[in-house]
Amino acid sequence: MNKSIYTFLLAACCLTACDDGPIYPETTTSAEGKTVVMEGQFTGLNGWPGNYRVSIAGFENADDEYATVSKVITASDIKDGKLSVELSGLQGNITVVRLCILDRLRRHVVTINEADISKSPEVITIDIGNVDASMYNIIQQQFFDKRCTSCHRDSREAFAGLDLTDGNSYQALVGVPSKRVADKLLVEPNNASESVLHKVINEEFVEGVAMKHYDITQKEDRQIMLPLIDAWINNGARED
Ligand code: HEC
Repeated sequence: MNKSIYTFLLAACCLTACDDGPIYPETTTSAEGKTVVMEGQFTGLNGWPGNYRVSIAGFENADDEYATVSKVITASDIKDGKLSVELSGLQGNITVVRLCILDRLRRHVVTINEADISKSPEVITIDIGNVDASMYNIIQQQFFDKRCTSCHRDSREAFAGLDLTDGNSYQALVGVPSKRVADKLLVEPNNASESVLHKVINEEFVEGVAMKHYDITQKEDRQIMLPLIDAWINNGARED
């Protein structure tokens, strides 16, 4: 393996968020810019409401707020559960390509998988492994797992008896009466503002809940995750 490909592989592996599947670089020549192909088993496309777009997108810098180029992934990109989507014409200013959620203005919401293409060959195929891109799974992995499961862990020890761990949180939340707030559900589908989950993370004081949760959420959660959780609830709180 030559040295530059090896460097690229290393960079791409370090940046790949949720999968360590193989990456197959292959060199061809093109005057039109680079092409990235993302492939893998894929579910969870259909539950996203219209202002969110599951996309493949190129960014000039890893911390850019907006994508420079992007393409919305549609059902026609998925055959028998396998995604195959291509973004081409990527100029030298594009350093990172992501499988991600963008809003309608192409602002970055969350990354599902990414690769550094700054040193990559002209055509790159990235194996994304097995991705569940559903809203609920994104909320689990990028919010409950990071901010909540230290206390709301495995059911027997969970604070307030609320288990927010992967595989348990959906049954613990959706349609389940609150133990602390009278006559309210933790998640009432299609009614975020009346759901105790929403209140606890968005409001500084929630009557009945002794523990103040407001400080647990970070600035970036308030911009991205809290609106996303509201959108999830108001779109029916789907599990898929
Ligand atoms: C430091 C520990 C801790 C963390 C972290 C934490 N919680 Fe809690 N949570 C509690 C405690 C303690 C209670 C019960 C408060 C009471 O007894 O009134 C509670 C109660 C709740 C309730 C109300 C349960 C009910 O039946 O009404 C919800 C909803 C909740 N938490 C959601 C979350 C979410 C979502 C996160 C992550 C953003 C989170 N919590 C993070 C400790 C924590």
